[in-house]
Amino acid sequence: MRLNRKLEHIELSLRQKESAVSTGFDDITLVHNSLPQLNLADVDTSCTFLGKVLQGPLLINAMTGGHPELESINFSLAKAAYTVGVAMAVGSQRAALEDHAVRSSFTVVRDANPDGVILANLGADCTLNEAREAIKMIKADSLQLHLNVPQELAMAEGDRDFRGILQNIELLTKQLTTPVVVKEVGFGMSRETISRLRAAGAAYIDVGGAGGTDFIAIENNRSGRQTRWAWGIPTAISLLEGLAVESPGHLIASGGIVHALDCVKALCLGCSMVGMARPLLKILIDGSTEELTAYLQNLIADIRRIMLMLGARRIADLTSVPAVIGGTTYHWLARRGIE
Ligand code: FNR
Repeated sequence: MRLNRKLEHIELSLRQKESAVSTGFDDITLVHNSLPQLNLADVDTSCTFLGKVLQGPLLINAMTGGHPELESINFSLAKAAYTVGVAMAVGSQRAALEDHAVRSSFTVVRDANPDGVILANLGADCTLNEAREAIKMIKADSLQLHLNVPQELAMAEGDRDFRGILQNIELLTKQLTTPVVVKEVGFGMSRETISRLRAAGAAYIDVGGAGGTDFIAIENNRSGRQTRWAWGIPTAISLLEGLAVESPGHLIASGGIVHALDCVKALCLGCSMVGMARPLLKILIDGSTEELTAYLQNLIADIRRIMLMLGARRIADLTSVPAVIGGTTYHWLARRGIE
């Protein structure tokens, strides 16, 4: 069942139309700087994440592994991450904990990128031993724990009991020596959730906001239902919710991010990394590893150009760039009392 589900997720996600929810980034306008006083060659997109240097603050987010047919996808994603110098997370390693025969679909990622930033991935209900095994399997720099309640509820075979997850996250962060990232899968997070996760010891929170891949729609589709719910907190709003309670540096923005301008908007708001999943998978499946590599290289080149137009020489300078927030995002912040 799980193996087929992995293949179906890829197929159905690639067929998915535009999300019923907007990411909110269209509500944000960055203030153009006509006098940046910079040389493009001096604009530096590099950053440090989990103790290693990246060429851009980008993460190929968790997607796949756990089936022999998925090994080549993970290998290609990892090759592109290696060539460009960005981070990558593998998909849930649950299948490999249960069946050693599919481990190579995950270990291939470390083989392709021996010194790069690679994140392990499991559901937030995993045991301490499972977490340790997943990290060891790929010599991971961090463990992502995913939260995906709406997806589980939409899945006929999904979980129904979500008690004790926060306590489990707390136990894992206390016992593991590897930093933990807690992520959503496209439904976003409120400041209350983000505060609780940080208090539980998460080193980073990936807000995984709404506006991109829609896992309720994917699971409904798998069960033959066509219902679409516009569910979740948009990505830009999730990020601003997080920044109401967190200083910049611990938040990762993801969910529906495709273009460099949205990456830069997210960095200006105060995230330290930007994650992308389905858009990158689509480029790889419709094209090739080379096309994915070129896309990521162009993305970084575009981020550099936008940084210059904002007068930002380093990624850290982006948090000082003025941004104007309008539309639904403005009203959301006002109603929630967020300045
Ligand atoms: C995912 N995602 C995901 N997340 C996770 O934590 N573990 C997983 O195993 C998977 N599997 C998976 C498969 C496929 C095919 C896709 C497209 C996505 C969720 C992913 O990491 C991300 O949070 C969401 O897809 C939202 O980002 P995008 O796709 O809008 O950039």
